Amino acid sequence: MKYGIIGTGWIAESFIAGVRLKTDSEIVAVYSRTAEKGGEFAQRNSIPAIYTNLDIFLESDMDAVYIASPNVMHYPQSKKCLEAGKHVICEKPVTVTPEQYEECKRIADKNGLIYIEAIMYMHTPAREVLRENLKRIGRITSAHFDFSQLSSKYPAYLRGENPNIFNPQMATGSLMDLGIYCVYPALDLFGIPEKITADAVFLDSGADASGSVSFNYGDKLITFTHSKTGQDYSGSEIFGDEGTIHIESISKLINVFLYKSDAEKEQIIHEYSKPELMGFEAENFENYIKNPADEKYLLSSKNALQVCRLMQEIRDRANIRFKEYNYD
Ligand SMILES: NC(=O)c1ccc[n+]([C@@H]2O[C@H](COP(=O)([O-])OP(=O)(O)OC[C@H]3O[C@@H](n4cnc5c(N)ncnc54)[C@H](OP(=O)(O)O)[C@@H]3O)[C@@H](O)[C@H]2O)c1
Repeated sequence: MKYGIIGTGWIAESFIAGVRLKTDSEIVAVYSRTAEKGGEFAQRNSIPAIYTNLDIFLESDMDAVYIASPNVMHYPQSKKCLEAGKHVICEKPVTVTPEQYEECKRIADKNGLIYIEAIMYMHTPAREVLRENLKRIGRITSAHFDFSQLSSKYPAYLRGENPNIFNPQMATGSLMDLGIYCVYPALDLFGIPEKITADAVFLDSGADASGSVSFNYGDKLITFTHSKTGQDYSGSEIFGDEGTIHIESISKLINVFLYKSDAEKEQIIHEYSKPELMGFEAENFENYIKNPADEKYLLSSKNALQVCRLMQEIRDRANIRFKEYNYD
């Protein structure tokens, strides 16, 4: 299969490494806003063609596009790619609103194309291992997920620059960037909560710097915290009345241990490298292209839409607002 790439950040390089590790596909083109950045990226990653015009990029010979642009661009670029007949794998969060996701999915379905969110949780084999092991810790009573990662862009923000990640015009901030990694497992493992409470603190730019969310299920409370301005070292935990599961990284779902009072701690999930995790996404994407009726594709689509809805509800509760983006 032939991929085109939109976006020239480090995550696009990890995806390319994943494609090359896990599939036989080729990376045939990159779209960048500038020939200079596109050229450097293409050279570093051995990509034969560079485009600075999205329409011309989409006219070239490729089957699928991986989108790794700022969040606010995901919807218009996904739509454009799907209308041009390309399968799309788009970085998280797949769109800002559920309506945007639904519109893109309708276009994909109408054109016989696959459209998925590049979210590690839904594509790693570790997801199934976690789900199986949950049965071993009895009745789940509560859980706490944390994804707090001090942003490498924070010093630039403090110097007065305006990095995309702290610019509310880009639909970014802590919840959109990191909180989503907690929403996915909460939804996937426990379903839609009965009640949501959420709060956030903001930078002067208006972006949320960190926040907390709780999902009340009646019989259990799942809480999570996320931050771009502090670093977590304690991980995430799921508590049952017969044991506890400790997760080192909720986003990558790696280094997961099961604790029971009558047994030694047991490592149930090991480490995966970033290219491996991105490779699982590419592998699944290509499997769905071959078999669109794959029930994992149906589940991925259902969860992507539901996560979009939950994210919107959390933003409403926490008063997280984005500024209008001028697409011209
Ligand atoms: N899955 C993961 O682990 C993971 C990790 C990091 C990020 N992500 C996701 O990947 C996406 C990109 O994140 P990032 O940190 O790489 O973002 P970024 O650095 O702000 O932007 C990514 C690329 O988009 C282009 N771009 C920048 N500003 C733009 C603008 N105003 N309009 C159009 N294009 C613009 C740039 O490429 P050109 O200058 O070449 O056009 C840039 O290299 C986000 O959705 C993020 O959530 C996922």
